[in-house]
Amino acid sequence: MILEVKDLTIPTMDQKCVIVNNVSFGVKEGSIHAIIGPNGSGKSTLAYTIMGLDNYKPSGGKIYFEGIDITEMSITERAKLGITLAWQEPARIEGLSVYKYVSLGIKDKAKLKDKVIEALKIVNLEPERYLNRTIDESLSGGERKRVELAATIAMRPRLILLDEPDSGLDFIVIEDFMNIFEKIKKLNMTILLITHREDIGMIADYGTLIWRGDSLLTDVFPNVMLRYCAKAGLKEFCHRKLFQQEGFCFDEDYINRIFEEENNS
Ligand SMILES: Nc1ncnc2c1ncn2[C@@H]1O[C@H](COP(=O)(O)OP(=O)(O)OP(=O)(O)O)[C@@H](O)[C@H]1O
Ligand SMILES: [Mg+2]
Repeated sequence: MILEVKDLTIPTMDQKCVIVNNVSFGVKEGSIHAIIGPNGSGKSTLAYTIMGLDNYKPSGGKIYFEGIDITEMSITERAKLGITLAWQEPARIEGLSVYKYVSLGIKDKAKLKDKVIEALKIVNLEPERYLNRTIDESLSGGERKRVELAATIAMRPRLILLDEPDSGLDFIVIEDFMNIFEKIKKLNMTILLITHREDIGMIADYGTLIWRGDSLLTDVFPNVMLRYCAKAGLKEFCHRKLFQQEGFCFDEDYINRIFEEENNS
């Protein structure tokens, strides 16, 4: 496991409520692991706490990265170990060129331009068209998100926390994400993918279901998705095409059993 979260409890800043309650899961190195759950279930809070942002301090539990207890570490120390967070809302870094922005996080400046070009190619932006563009309103939301992801990839982190990479981006299609994530995986980076979109989650190898701040299940992703659908009453999704691929074709009886279990619990 590259990341292990053990019995993590995260209170609100004023300590009056608990947002994430006793959550545990592990992320396998080199995998895409989705955290799925409805709006407000605590997914972003979990990601910010793993990254170590100010104001996100657990009141209980531990976070281990490659076996090291990072629970008390600062965000800078965690970044040095190779953890990066790509935000739900893209950073507003106006005025820099795409080249400058992507190159900022590259430590070894040898062959800098080649490295920037490689990162842009991974996110399917043509380098010759984008290298000299300025980061401003002339870039679409989707292009901005890709530039940001390119900058993250260029840093070569060990673990990328991706919070709703698709937010507001209906036009980044699922095949495009799959293609980008496959390239990231080949570079030996692990992705913790936070999403409430079931089709995006289906790209993941494994998943954890977060429900009202509790972690309910960690398993191969389709099993997690089935449990999510059962909890949310989304039966029709189980019959959709995405659910029927790659050997995860749940039969009607199995789907009914899981839904029944959920209704009885
Ligand atoms: N600082 C805070 N003080 C009080 N409540 C908070 C605070 N931060 C988050 N919350 C609440 O905690 C819950 C979980 O929030 P979080 O942003 O982690 O959810 P999420 O699963 O990422 O949701 P979404 O899918 O909408 O992005 C929400 O009800 C939110 O309002
Ligand atoms: Mg969120």
